[in-house]
Order: sequence, then C-alpha cells, then structure tokens
Amino acid sequence: MKILLLGSGGRECAIAWKLAQSSRCTKLFIAPGNAGTGAYGENVAIKVNEFDKIKDFVAANCIEMIVVGPEDPLVNGIYDFFKGTDVKVIGPSKAAAQLEGSKDFCKRFMMRNNIPTARYQSFTAAEYDEACKFLETLQAPYVLKADGLAAGKGVLILPTLDEAKRELKEMLGGMFGAASATVVIEEFMSGIECSVFVLTDGKNYKILPVAKDYKRIGEGDTGLNTGGMGNCSPVPFANDEFMQKVEERIVKPTIAGLSKEGLEYKGFIFLGLIRMDRPIQNYRAGDPMVIEYNVRMGDPETEVVMPRIKSDLVELLDGVANGNLDEKTLEIDPRASVTVVLVSGGYPGSYEKGKVMTGMDDELFTQGVVAPEDSHRKSILFHAGTAKKDGNVVTAGGRVICVTSYGNNRDEALAQSMSGAELIQFEGKYYRRDIGKDLAAWD
Ligand code: AMP
Ligand code: GLY
Repeated sequence: MKILLLGSGGRECAIAWKLAQSSRCTKLFIAPGNAGTGAYGENVAIKVNEFDKIKDFVAANCIEMIVVGPEDPLVNGIYDFFKGTDVKVIGPSKAAAQLEGSKDFCKRFMMRNNIPTARYQSFTAAEYDEACKFLETLQAPYVLKADGLAAGKGVLILPTLDEAKRELKEMLGGMFGAASATVVIEEFMSGIECSVFVLTDGKNYKILPVAKDYKRIGEGDTGLNTGGMGNCSPVPFANDEFMQKVEERIVKPTIAGLSKEGLEYKGFIFLGLIRMDRPIQNYRAGDPMVIEYNVRMGDPETEVVMPRIKSDLVELLDGVANGNLDEKTLEIDPRASVTVVLVSGGYPGSYEKGKVMTGMDDELFTQGVVAPEDSHRKSILFHAGTAKKDGNVVTAGGRVICVTSYGNNRDEALAQSMSGAELIQFEGKYYRRDIGKDLAAWD
C-alpha cells in the first residue's frame, strides 16, 4: 500500500517510523516532513492544508491511504474532501473533528452521552454579566477556555474570582481572536492527568498504550506551558481498575455517541483524562473524568506510544478504514518507554533557529528502519523541529528532537534517554531530566 502521511513534527516522525516497519507499506511519503522523516520515506513539499495539491499528488502517485497527523486539516475537513474516492483518510469527518475544534461542541457531546466531565456553561460577550454570575457559583480556581482552536494556549486557570472576571472580559474581547468569541467556563477538577488513545473504525475500537505528558518547561512541573517536554508509558496509576472505568464510562459511550449522532470517525481519539483525587459531582476519588478530546495522536505522546505497539500499524489502519478493526490484533510491548524532548534555548518564548546539530550518528542511536525488538539498549531519535541546510541538520523549531528509549522500567528508560540527550549537541540545547520521576509514588 502507498501511504501519504501529513505533518512535520515528532509525532509524524514516530508514525513514519512505525509505518515504515510494515511489509504492507510499499511506499511512504511525508508532507511536508522534517529532517528525520526522510529516513522512513520521501518528503514532499506540500503543506497539510493544501488540499488541492494533496489531491493532485495522491492521484499522480496512486496513494491509497492518507494518515493525518495534526488536527488542522481534520478540522478543515480533509476526511470529507476525499469522501467517495478510493483514498482512505485516517481521521474523523469535519463534523466529528469539532470534538477538538470547539470546546462548546465537545462539552455538549459529553453531556448528551453522559460522559464524566466538569460542569460548565458557555458565554459570548453579550452575556458577560451572566457569565460572572455563573463564575460566582463555582469554587476557586476558575477555568476559562476559548471555544475554538488557539494553538494549545486557550485555557486559563485563575486563582481568584476577580482575576477570573478580568480575564474573562479580555477573552471575550478577542484575546484569542475569533477562537474566544465564545468562552467555556467550567468547574475545576483536581487530580493527576494522563493521555489515553483509542483507535476506532466508527464501531469497533482498540485502546492503545497510556502515556503521561510533561507540559511545563521546568523540572518539577514549573514554569511556562510548552507543547510537551517529555512523556512516558505505561502510567502506573492507569491500572486495570482505572482503565476498566475508562473503557466502560468513557470509551464505550464515546464510540456509541459518535455512531448514534452520525459523526463519522475513522481514526485516533485522544482522551485527555484526569484521575480525580477528591470526589466531584457523583464521582469518587480515583475515578477518571474527561478534560478534553483531541481528534489526533498527542505530541510527544506518540513518541512513546508508537514504540510500544508491537502489531503492524498498517494492518490496524486498514481495519480502521475498512470497518473490520475487530478482526485485527493489537499487541503491546511490555517494556516501558520514555521520551525526552530537546528544545531550543528560550523556548517556549522566543528562540533562534538554524543551529547546527551533531551527535545523531552515535552508535547509541538506531539508524533508519529498525524493529523495536532490535532497539533495546539503543535510543530512537524522532525529529521534531529540524531541517537540512548546506549538508547539515539544523534546528528549525522550539521542540527540536525527541530521544525515546525502552527500559525494563521507567527509570531505566529515562537513564538511557539522558545518555542520548547528552550526546546530541546544538547551541542553546535544553531538556528536562525528571520525566516520569513523579510517578514513583504510584509504582
Ligand atoms: P485543554 O486545552 O482543554 O487540554 O486544557 C489544558 C490544560 O488545562 C489541561 O491539560 C489541564 O491541565 C488544564 N485543565 C483544563 N480544564 C481543566 C479543569 N476543568 N480542571 C482542571 N484543570 C483543567
Ligand atoms: N501533548 C499534548 C497534545 O498533543 O495536545
């Protein structure tokens, strides 16, 4: 099968690595890709939202499947664009992608389908006074969310009512442009977060390995939010009892709700979950609740999830496209995986690009398409913001490269990724050394 993968980050590099291992993948293209994806397929200079160019490329190269990495083309309707053709798009329809594209849509969906989530109300600028009254009924801290896509920055958590009212006014006044013309206000949920990924063909589903994301720039989860500084899998608090609740209370009603409401979905669902540390509504401490849905894989979650999938990903995606995912097997690697993200100095604020990178050819790192079984005691490099320039690999983004390792446990995997992180050099390099350390209390 000839496959086109859309995207250019660490997530896409990890998906490309996994697709390229399949004997069913005869040719892989990545649009636009990065300096790392070229090891697994051929990069194509087309952007993810250039649907007409994608269509021409697909026709000219007999592409049979398009795997979509980021949310943007999904929210813009790439699934619908190819509907009725022979090309299989892995992802949700435009209508279903609203689960990520609109927080208000997402909350309504959860309410209709009785899926555990924070109580909420949505308001526009004309309803500012009512919004303040609703805020007064809630306990601190206060959670304000821009309804639309705001590049991951549209959520504010405010410690006092005064600040919440002030920020609400700013948001409704256009702080996030059109994305915050409607603001969702919701009750605060207290607990520890994890990312659960579900692959669905619209009626059958498989639950992929669970991951934990480390979003803050500083060790000990301090400082500014980033796109993700590291991840680990498995997650000890997401034990069998927790995952059974996730499946019964969240996954099954989500799939049933999508089907009942006619929301076509053939792809990855990302459940941003919280394990509550105190009772809320009629739920108990230890129960899972949904913070958000995303309609794609997470980044850098994918960089630890893909390595733990032993089964052939193309087989699974074929099941997704053809509606027979139930006939496919999902085998999980029992080893732990940890990824550490090396970022540019200054990130998530301003940073310089174009720094020459070295050390990636060290024998610690796997090179090219290597099956997971052969990568023990080695690390895998998933490029994120990299480019090729004058024969060198240079930095081209805030998150530059992810070092993923396996281990018999999390600490082993982290130690291995630390060795890898030290070997790679570029001016201004920064990374966290504590990915997964906070989970020791749950082991
Ligand atoms: P989101 O963009 O919806 O993922 O929100 C970003 C982050 O804000 C989440 O990962 C949580 O850490 C936090 N958050 C969002 N909603 C809530 C909530 N209702 N209670 C507590 N934390 C929240
Ligand atoms: N790592 C969080 C996300 O991909 O949204």
